[in-house]
Amino acid sequence: MEKKNIDWENLGFGYIKTDYRYVSDYKNGAWNEGGLIEDDKVVISECACVLQYAQTVFEGLKAYTTEDGRIVTFRPDLNAERMIQSAERLEMPVFPADRFVDAVTQTVKANAAYVPPYGSGATLYIRPYMFGSNAVIGVKPADEYQFRVFTTPVGHYFKGGVKPLTIRVCDFDRAAPHGTGHIKAGLNYAMSLHAIVDAHQKGYDENMYLDAATRKKVEETGGANFLFVTKDNTVVTPKSNSILPSITRRSLIHVAEEYLGLKVEEREVYLDEVEDFAECGLCGTAAVISPVGKIVDHGKEIFLPSGMHEMGPVTKKLYDTLTGIQMGRIEAPEGWIHVIE
Ligand code: PLP
Ligand code: COI
Repeated sequence: MEKKNIDWENLGFGYIKTDYRYVSDYKNGAWNEGGLIEDDKVVISECACVLQYAQTVFEGLKAYTTEDGRIVTFRPDLNAERMIQSAERLEMPVFPADRFVDAVTQTVKANAAYVPPYGSGATLYIRPYMFGSNAVIGVKPADEYQFRVFTTPVGHYFKGGVKPLTIRVCDFDRAAPHGTGHIKAGLNYAMSLHAIVDAHQKGYDENMYLDAATRKKVEETGGANFLFVTKDNTVVTPKSNSILPSITRRSLIHVAEEYLGLKVEEREVYLDEVEDFAECGLCGTAAVISPVGKIVDHGKEIFLPSGMHEMGPVTKKLYDTLTGIQMGRIEAPEGWIHVIE
């Protein structure tokens, strides 16, 4: 299969239309058979529940070309599971996990020419999503839904590649204590748009959200979980019911413990203790592990000892091991790698 003529090395995190997408419709209480189509346009009622009341959930995962030339995805079963939890929270029908993995597999296979080559630094981002498609004007869930998967080749999420980021402690909240922060709903991202535009205008790369109840504890950023490293090399990740259960973070905990022999603590992290950490990173599918060099808390600048030029040593080991597993250079734990072809 011939690859598309794309400048893989210089891709940013943007949308490039690929040839095929998967669609399945839910009507009269059942999902139809579904399949691949070429048309990228979605046609729905002007009064669709997704347009009026934001009834939509999504997922994000990537396809990689491994060192030995296979195309693989990373733990798609966990994305399927999380999408089920997201759908249930928004009163949407669940798309069965085995069908989710099959839909991802079909879509990636059909767009294999867009899967960036091994060593290019780019990957194929996969976006499964689902939305209420029929007209509702009273506030209630839709009766009809569409589940879709599209793909787009991507490079680094943050401009400047793996250069350490500067983030600010944000005055806006991302999630309420009993709200929807733990699911991947479009509404969580809509409410973060003003905060991220404001952060960028002021020269910051991302927002550090605090817990809405006490504003004393670190939650996450708009699109990634936090990972800290103490001065004695313990990996610490914030525990909270209102952050997204990142698959990357859960995988890194295993990598830290089982591959690198590091101690890991999943616990509440107070803003007050951030200045004591040696390293900080953002982890997620899009972010992979992006190092943080500086955190600004209302004028108080906290410089991580790892500096503004490179990843800290533990972050680097985690990054190399995780990406090594994803690209087939390092043996993966059972069930982590799903081979497409
Ligand atoms: N937190 C938020 C708010 C996200 O949008 C994402 C991205 O999916 C993550 C964390 C990271 O999750 P994952 O590692 O499963 O991609
Ligand atoms: C992902 O990492 O897959 C996400 O969905 C994050 C988003 C901000 C791009």
